[in-house]
Amino acid sequence: MKFAVTGGAGFIGSHLIKYLIDEGHNVTAIDNLNTGKLNNLSKVIDRINFIRGDIRDTKLLQENLRGVDGVFHEAALASVQESFTKIQEYNEVNVQGTENILKTAKEYGFKVVYASSSSVYGNPTKIPIQEDDPKNPINPYAQTKLDDEKLAAKYAKEGVRVIGLRYFNVFGERQSQQYAGVIKKFLKKARNGEAPIINGDGTQTRDFVYVGDVVRANVLAMMSNVDHAFFNVGTATTITVNELADLIVGEFGLDIKPVHGPGLPGDVHTTKADITLAKKLLNWEPRVEIRDWLKQAISEKGNLDSIID
Ligand SMILES: NC(=O)c1ccc[n+]([C@@H]2O[C@H](COP(=O)([O-])OP(=O)(O)OC[C@H]3O[C@@H](n4cnc5c(N)ncnc54)[C@H](O)[C@@H]3O)[C@@H](O)[C@H]2O)c1
Repeated sequence: MKFAVTGGAGFIGSHLIKYLIDEGHNVTAIDNLNTGKLNNLSKVIDRINFIRGDIRDTKLLQENLRGVDGVFHEAALASVQESFTKIQEYNEVNVQGTENILKTAKEYGFKVVYASSSSVYGNPTKIPIQEDDPKNPINPYAQTKLDDEKLAAKYAKEGVRVIGLRYFNVFGERQSQQYAGVIKKFLKKARNGEAPIINGDGTQTRDFVYVGDVVRANVLAMMSNVDHAFFNVGTATTITVNELADLIVGEFGLDIKPVHGPGLPGDVHTTKADITLAKKLLNWEPRVEIRDWLKQAISEKGNLDSIID
């Protein structure tokens, strides 16, 4: 089949493209290389159609999305902290950019599976979080993701097939600084024999989901007969930031204690996904567990390079 991946040179987009190519699909990647890197696509670049372009450019989208069966829309500005100072740009890329994809989908008839975020829930009212729980974004980035969901619902009413996947904290090889950046930072410190620096008291919990599992969720959503829905994409398990730091320090065999700094503004304290809906409608389940993966990555030092660098 013929697919396009926006944000294809980014962390999740590049893993998705590798999977699609290995499955024999035809892939166009659209990325302005803002945070993405061509290097992320080095294994597949000869086999894809790479377009260096911006999702704010409607003409470029119309030219390159004609005839595709589906678009995986991953492109976004994705830093919570940066979103406080660049509200307008975040709106233009994340909200206007998503509307451009949806408008093109309406015109050409392709299906859209796009990256929403668990941040739409804000600080949850109950754990685990279910899809229809209240949405209370607590930072401008999360607000753009909620605005996207409103657009998706609106376009779905107009006949567009669109699924939003609310990723929790995605980790894995080549991961970006956002969301699961804490893993990257702790590994970097521990590799240098230094203590991890924890923002706040470290009791905050995270639901870390492996990028390969996120890729499978995308493909299953695209191939499913579900036309419109939002799904949690997490693991329904959690780890505290303190436990994460202890695990990493321990696996490196270091005898040091983490250092605690001030908490971050806009940081959610507790997250944990209920993934019943994705299991039921998409037949999706995560396969990789953060603790097992980290232990293996630390024992195979070569694998660590692709996470940290
Ligand atoms: N990584 C996570 O844990 C996580 C969690 C929740 C949601 N998400 C969402 O998943 C998606 C992918 O995230 P990621 O972690 O791979 O981040 P990333 O920064 O690695 O990827 C985003 C990609 O979008 C590209 N991009 C940015 N602005 C663009 C524009 N105007 N036009 C074209 N391309 C543009 C960037 O260059 C980059 O390659 C994003 O929508 C993000 O908000 C990620």
